[in-house]
Amino acid sequence: SPRSAVPTPTSTLADSNGLKQPFVIGVSGGTASGKTTVCDMIIQQLHDHRIVLVNQDSFYRGLTPEESLRVHEYNFDHPDAFDTEQLLECIENLKRGHSVHVPIYDFKNHRRCSESFRQVNASDVIILEGILVFHDQRVRSLMNMKIFVDTDADVRLARRIRRDTVERGRDINSVLEQYAKFVKPAFDDFVLPSKKYADVIIPRGGDNHVAIDLIVQHIHTKLGQHDLCKIYPNVYVIQSTFQI
Ligand code: CTP
Repeated sequence: SPRSAVPTPTSTLADSNGLKQPFVIGVSGGTASGKTTVCDMIIQQLHDHRIVLVNQDSFYRGLTPEESLRVHEYNFDHPDAFDTEQLLECIENLKRGHSVHVPIYDFKNHRRCSESFRQVNASDVIILEGILVFHDQRVRSLMNMKIFVDTDADVRLARRIRRDTVERGRDINSVLEQYAKFVKPAFDDFVLPSKKYADVIIPRGGDNHVAIDLIVQHIHTKLGQHDLCKIYPNVYVIQSTFQI
């Protein structure tokens, strides 16, 4: 069905004991904080592993015809704007080692492409990126590592204006209005409070190469431990978290 992230029967990573599951990383942060850049840098450095990126944006609900007529009154920064049940189902299926179909979202027309999907295959590492990926406890509980990209609000607003006018075909007044009415209040109410769930907080986003290197080292270690668990299932691995 076009509404659900449909599992397709391909390869699985979990062995019969369920010991080797994909490593799930959540990457959150305010709008235009540099989440995508951080994810791209992690993906580049983990090129020797199978790694996939899932964007929370793909799970935006399409607008009803009435909502489309009054799009300037629609809050795209509220948790209810996302189909979280479908996102949850998608990540659960990927964790089980199934491949899934992820919807494709059209930011210009505020709707999903009804015809096409992106197939995401089973992987060693799954990165889930989005402004509100730490909001829902069920989604959070699927993550092995949570990263919050912390970038100053003025830097984010400047990037957002550039992106929305250049890439999303919007005029500057509507961008500023949306920011003041919805984006900033929702950041204060939902995004910032979810920062407390992060294991790692990265100041300055993609510019922070030291933080990315440390994170990648940690993921390498964890993936190595996954493999060790498979070879020596009786050996305990001590879990730890760290802050940069
Ligand atoms: N949004 C919008 N119109 C829509 C759907 C979403 O303007 N039809 C906006 C929301 O207001 C929300 C933002 O999209 O604030 C979420 O995307 P964002 O996190 O800014 O995009 P990324 O590219 O993932 O951010 P980053 O620069 O951190 O990589």
